[in-house]
Amino acid sequence: MKRNILIHPDPRLKKVCAPVADLSDELRKLADDMLETMYDAPGIGLAAPQIGVLDRLIVMDCIKEEGETPRPLIMFNPEVIASSDETNVYEEGCLSIPEQFAEVTRPKVVDVTWMDRDGNLQKETFDGLWATCVQHEIDHLNGKLFIDYLKPLKRQMITRKMQKLKREQARA
Ligand code: NI
Repeated sequence: MKRNILIHPDPRLKKVCAPVADLSDELRKLADDMLETMYDAPGIGLAAPQIGVLDRLIVMDCIKEEGETPRPLIMFNPEVIASSDETNVYEEGCLSIPEQFAEVTRPKVVDVTWMDRDGNLQKETFDGLWATCVQHEIDHLNGKLFIDYLKPLKRQMITRKMQKLKREQARA
């Protein structure tokens, strides 16, 4: 089932999310719904707070090429345990901040641990776009958005655009 994506500014996007203690069918359903919502948007990552659920859960799939095998990842309690000194700059966007993009600098390579859909602990090294995406999504679980890396003026400009968008949506 597709879920509704919250648009910034929203207090739920500023909250630190709670760790997931025990996997349940409800949480698996939530994760599946998030993947469906992400693919439909379309996007390459989505965090639970973006659909108003304050649990430490993200989904992502950075395979964008037509014809390539999709690689949906469901990550409960994801955690960056090591980051490279080398950095990477990507033009980032966010499904909660539609049609706004800005360059963000982050570590190029990160080691991440998480619990998968079956409750198994996983560990993987991510590079390039995957590394940027997983860091962006984990930020969401700590109430942080990519625009928080920008200069205040640019951030305020984007926030005002989003407030206007939300007013227009409310009227429609
Ligand atoms: Ni985002």
